[in-house]
Amino acid sequence: MTERNLAFLDGALKDKVAIVTGAGQGVGRDTAIAMTQAGARVAVIDINGENAAKVAAELADHGAPGLGITCDVSKRDQVEAAVAAAVAEFGGLDIVFNGAHNLRVVTSPFMETSEDLLHAHLHSGFYGTYYFMQAAYPHLKERGGSIINVGSGAGVKGNAEHLAYAATKEAIRAATRVAAREWGQDGIRVNTICPAAWDTPGMLLGPAGADDATKERMRAMIPLRRFAGGNETASVAVFLASDAASYMTGHSFMVDGGSNIDAGR
Ligand SMILES: NC(=O)c1ccc[n+]([C@@H]2O[C@H](COP(=O)([O-])OP(=O)(O)OC[C@H]3O[C@@H](n4cnc5c(N)ncnc54)[C@H](O)[C@@H]3O)[C@@H](O)[C@H]2O)c1
Repeated sequence: MTERNLAFLDGALKDKVAIVTGAGQGVGRDTAIAMTQAGARVAVIDINGENAAKVAAELADHGAPGLGITCDVSKRDQVEAAVAAAVAEFGGLDIVFNGAHNLRVVTSPFMETSEDLLHAHLHSGFYGTYYFMQAAYPHLKERGGSIINVGSGAGVKGNAEHLAYAATKEAIRAATRVAAREWGQDGIRVNTICPAAWDTPGMLLGPAGADDATKERMRAMIPLRRFAGGNETASVAVFLASDAASYMTGHSFMVDGGSNIDAGR
């Protein structure tokens, strides 16, 4: 993976407190690292508590240790406890990155998509995002803040055999727009990033994995002809969280090597 030099983001999140969900691995972990490098204190949240603790400890090498919190984002009481713990530890809250999503099964033909699969996506993706937004709102309102939700080109384009995933991601983008309109007056910005990192444990590197020929076929579909480096998605999240993006709210940002150009936004 290509790691980009993020020196230009040094200090961009100085004195800020961030919650990053799904931070035990993949895009969330990269985001927790990049936000720490940029100066934030980070609560590392994941259903996999071992990974959350590991990443939280790892953040010490990038600036300051994080706070690892085991939390199933689909459970409102656990989300409220996680937000309270982060605020108690770091003395406030400025940034929420909602990256958690159960990616165990992503594709299924429409007619074979069960309610169980829909629930798995909606509960980890949409409800998790909604619970964190509600629990964080009173804290973000105190000093202004930035929420970064995570959508997908698969939702924007409506990829075949992605009903549960695509519907969930589009619901998240709708929540972004609604909250941006309501909370702009409170100094809270809300945006969505749509990554196409692919080379993460949840995607091509996962247990199901992908053979070299499949990887090559996927790489060929990306205009930049390569998968994203670890911090190439995270750097955009840091930018959106920072004052450099202080006049940006309610929008979706494709961080995808150009692979969703035809989706238009
Ligand atoms: N990787 C990509 O190419 C890509 C493309 C588009 C969108 N995304 C989105 O980016 C985000 C991260 O993707 P990734 O590829 O890093 O995935 P990943 O599977 O590698 O990481 C997801 C993390 O979320 C955690 N998680 C799952 N369910 C949870 C729950 N109920 N509560 C708390 N934590 C939970 C997992 O334990 C894991 O650590 C997801 O929202 C995904 O849909 C990724």
